[in-house]
Amino acid sequence: MRRLREERDRLRDRIVAGRSQAVDRQHSLGKRTARERLDLLLDEDSFVEIDMFRRHQAHGLGMERQRPHTDGVVAGSGTIDGRRVFVYAQDFTIFGGSLGEAHALKIQKVMDLALSTGSPFIGLNDSGGARIQEGVMSLNGYGGIFQRNVQASGVIPQISVVLGPCAGGAAYSTALADFTFMVHDTAQLYLTGPDVVEAVTGESVTHAQLGGAQVHGTRSGLATFVHDDEESCLEDVRYLVSMLPSNNLALPPALPSCGAAADTRPRLAEIVPVEPNKPYDMRLVITELVDEGDFLELHEGWAQNVICALARIDGEVVGIVGNQPMVLAGVLDVAASQKAARFVRFCDAFGIPLVTLVDVPGFLPGTDQEYDGIIRHGAKLLYAYCEASVPRIQVIVRKAYGGAYIVMDSRSIGTDLSLAWPTNEIAVMGAEGAVNVIHRRELAAAADPAALRARLVEEYSEELVHPNYAAERGLVDDVIDPADTRSAVARGLAMLRDKRKQATPRKHGNVPL
Ligand code: HXC
Repeated sequence: MRRLREERDRLRDRIVAGRSQAVDRQHSLGKRTARERLDLLLDEDSFVEIDMFRRHQAHGLGMERQRPHTDGVVAGSGTIDGRRVFVYAQDFTIFGGSLGEAHALKIQKVMDLALSTGSPFIGLNDSGGARIQEGVMSLNGYGGIFQRNVQASGVIPQISVVLGPCAGGAAYSTALADFTFMVHDTAQLYLTGPDVVEAVTGESVTHAQLGGAQVHGTRSGLATFVHDDEESCLEDVRYLVSMLPSNNLALPPALPSCGAAADTRPRLAEIVPVEPNKPYDMRLVITELVDEGDFLELHEGWAQNVICALARIDGEVVGIVGNQPMVLAGVLDVAASQKAARFVRFCDAFGIPLVTLVDVPGFLPGTDQEYDGIIRHGAKLLYAYCEASVPRIQVIVRKAYGGAYIVMDSRSIGTDLSLAWPTNEIAVMGAEGAVNVIHRRELAAAADPAALRARLVEEYSEELVHPNYAAERGLVDDVIDPADTRSAVARGLAMLRDKRKQATPRKHGNVPL
C-alpha cells in the first residue's frame, strides 16, 4: 500500500508541476498556468481536483504516443469567500488546451455537479478550440457543454473567463454564460482565426483586431469585463461572485443593514443639473446611492449611454440600470437596449432587485437605428422589464420622455415603487418639440412667432412638464427631496423584500431575440 501510495504521490507531483519547457513558454507569453490561475481565483487550499488522472483514449495521428494526464484541463471545486463554486481551467501547455472527448467529459462532469449542487460555475479558457486529432468527438464534446450551459441558464450563475485563445466552439460556451471576462493582450475570442479569415475572405487581420478584449469590450458587447492583467481579472471574478446568489432558489448574499434608511445625500442635488440638456455623470449619482460608494459596472466600454451595475444598498444586493446623460445624452439605442435587457433578465432570474435611474430624452431616431432594428431591440428591454418579478424601484432623476419613459420601468409596465424629484420633466416630449407639433398652424400665422412660442412653451411646461401631473394620477408614488433618495430606496427595498409573484404557466415566452 505504501509503495502504491508513494508512486501515486510522485505521479501527482509530476502532473501538478507540468512540463517545465511548456510552463516557461506559457509564462513567456505573459500567461499563468491553469493551476496558478486557480490559486488566484479560489480561497487558499480550498481546491478539490477531480479527474486528475484522466487521459484521452484516442487513436491515430500519433495520439497513442502522447497521453498526458488531465488531458489539458484542470477541473474540480473550491470556495470563494467560503462559498462553493465549480471550476475548470484549461491548460494551454497540453495540446494547446484543445478540447477532445476526455477534456469535454471532464468539463461536463463539473457542470453537472455545479447544477446538481446549485453552485456557480466558472470556466477559465485558454484553448485552441476543438482538438483536431479527435475529429467529430471534439465537436460532440462541445455540443454536450452547450446543452449544459443552456440547462444551467437561469439556475446557477455561469462565468466565463478568457485568458488566452478561445477559438471556435469555446466561443459559444462563453456567449451562453452570464458574464464574460477578458484580459487585454492575451485573450482572443473568435469563431475562426485570422488564417481562416484570410483564406475565405482575403481580409488580413491580427488576432487582437479580430477578437481581442478591446473589440469585445467596446464593439460586439461579448465581454462584460475587461482587465489589464490576470490578477485583477480573477480578483474581480471573486468580487462578482460575492454579489451573486449561488442559484436561483438562494437569496443574493446580503450584508447587515448599515442604516441607509436614515442617510441623506445633499450632494445629489448638486450633481444633477436642473437644465434638462446639461450633461453630467450618472455614475456620480450611483456612487451617492450605494453602500460605500462601491459598485461593479458591467460592459463599461460598450453602449455607454446606459449603465448596468451591481451594488449593495443597505446591505442588500441590487441591480442598477441608469441612463447616462454624458454619452449620447442618455438616449436608448440598439446597443443600450440589448445591454440593459440582458442585465434585467439576469437580475430577475437570480432574485436581484432592480433600481432604475431614469434620465432619458427618448429613443435615438434615424435610419441607422431603424434599419438596425431599434424596434426589435427596444422590445427586448420592454419585454425584460414587463416580465421581471423581482422588487422594482424606479427613480426619475431628471427627465423621462415618450416611449423611453415607459420602457425605463414605468408604473405602466409594473414597477413597484416610482420616486420622482420635484424638478422632473415627465411627458410625451420636451416643451419645444411639443409646441411645434400641436401649435404648428398658429405659429405659422403669428405676427411674432418667437414670442408666441415662448408663451406656449411656458404654458405647456406649467401644465405638463413636472412630476405633479404624474403624481396626481398615481404614476409616481412620491415626490422626494433628492437628498432623501438613498433612504427612500432603502426603505422601498425593505418594503418589497417579501414580494412574490406567480407567473402564468406556459412553456416559455417568445422574447424578441
Ligand atoms: C489540436 C492544437 C489545437 C487544436 C493548438 N494546438 N490548437 N492541437 N487541436 N485545435 C496545439 C498546437 O499544435 C501546438 O502543439 C500547441 O497546441 C500550441 O499551439 P501553437 O500554435 O504553437 O500556439 P500559438 O502560436 O500560441 O497559437 C495558438 C492558436 C493556434 C492561435 C490557438 O494554435 C491555432 O490557431 N490553433 C487552431 C485554432 C482552431 O482553428 N481551432 C479549431 C476551431 S474549430 P505543439 O505540440 O506544437 O506544442 C472548432 C469547432 C467547434 O472549435 C465549432 C462549434 C461551434
